[in-house]
Amino acid sequence: MTYSETLEKEILKKISVAENQDSLEKIRIAELGKKGKISLLMKDLSKLSPEDRKEQGSKLNILKKNISEAISLKKIELANIELEKQLLEEKIDVTLPVQVNQSKYGKIHPVSQVLDEISEIFGSLGYKISEGPDIETEHYNFNALNIPESHPARQMHDTFYLNNDNTKEKYVLRTHTSPVQVRTMEKGKPPFKFISPGRTYRCDSDQTHTPMFHQIEGLVVDEKTHLGHLKWTLETFFKSFFELDNIEIQLRPSYFPFTEPSLEVDVLCDRSGPVLKIGEGSDWLEVAGAGMVHPKVLRSSNIDPSKYQGFAFGLGVDRLAQLKYGIPDLRTFFNGDIRWLSHYGFSFLDLPTLSRGLKK
Ligand code: PHE
Repeated sequence: MTYSETLEKEILKKISVAENQDSLEKIRIAELGKKGKISLLMKDLSKLSPEDRKEQGSKLNILKKNISEAISLKKIELANIELEKQLLEEKIDVTLPVQVNQSKYGKIHPVSQVLDEISEIFGSLGYKISEGPDIETEHYNFNALNIPESHPARQMHDTFYLNNDNTKEKYVLRTHTSPVQVRTMEKGKPPFKFISPGRTYRCDSDQTHTPMFHQIEGLVVDEKTHLGHLKWTLETFFKSFFELDNIEIQLRPSYFPFTEPSLEVDVLCDRSGPVLKIGEGSDWLEVAGAGMVHPKVLRSSNIDPSKYQGFAFGLGVDRLAQLKYGIPDLRTFFNGDIRWLSHYGFSFLDLPTLSRGLKK
């Protein structure tokens, strides 16, 4: 057996008995490191004659390769063993009873509750969920939605522009969830039927506006969907959401660059008492924007508008939470006050389901 073969055998043995990743790393440094055994042998090659150097050099290279491979394999093996051990130690017993007093502290925020409720309703109507990024390009937030640079609607949005250096693409905090319409349509083929929940941002703050708020976008595109379907969908949604049969909604003609025709959706409510009441009174509260998807938006998403059509809507989630649960000031949603949360929050054990009623 040659010297390098004996050496290889010896090192492989050490590797095979390494007990953990630390001791394996020590072996690696001792054998393959800059001052390791193999590196020193490599240095000594210069003392040999050219022929011997060639022969010994190639042997050493093979040795080095075999050792490196053996170390990599052992490393994976040890990592798996360590993970297995860790998983066993961290096992959680899900059958343990919940400590009753725990549910007093951890509460579900009304926004999360309402997002779950809305997703549950649209889920039962066959909608999928599609999400997009909070930091959005001007292209998706505006241009692809038929809001070119000079369009007055850009001013309406009170946009937060990000530090845009000299990059070609300009970034903004998305002002609405509508960019997800284009992002999702670009990636797939019609028909589409999905909702997109998420955070949205506008530079605005008063009792009914906060710089960060939540929307849920809805989009249905196929060959036949029309305005009647939109009206039915919104009515069905609001009845289910407010758990009221006598809900009254009003569709007002409006303008959005990405829908034609465009509508604003109001629900009937009573503002005369201390808490706002839905389905009664004579006031209207705006809760959504909607319309038929503009052919230009379909075209930006590579969809043929002569073949496909559909509707879109954007619901103000925080506004809906305020209405349903009688929360007067929107700003309190984001103050992070634990007393507020324990009053308005929901038990984490009660997930909204349609069959049981959305809230308990
Ligand atoms: N994106 C609009 C807004 O934020 C709402 C909307 C969505 C309107 C979809 C029409 C269709 O105001």
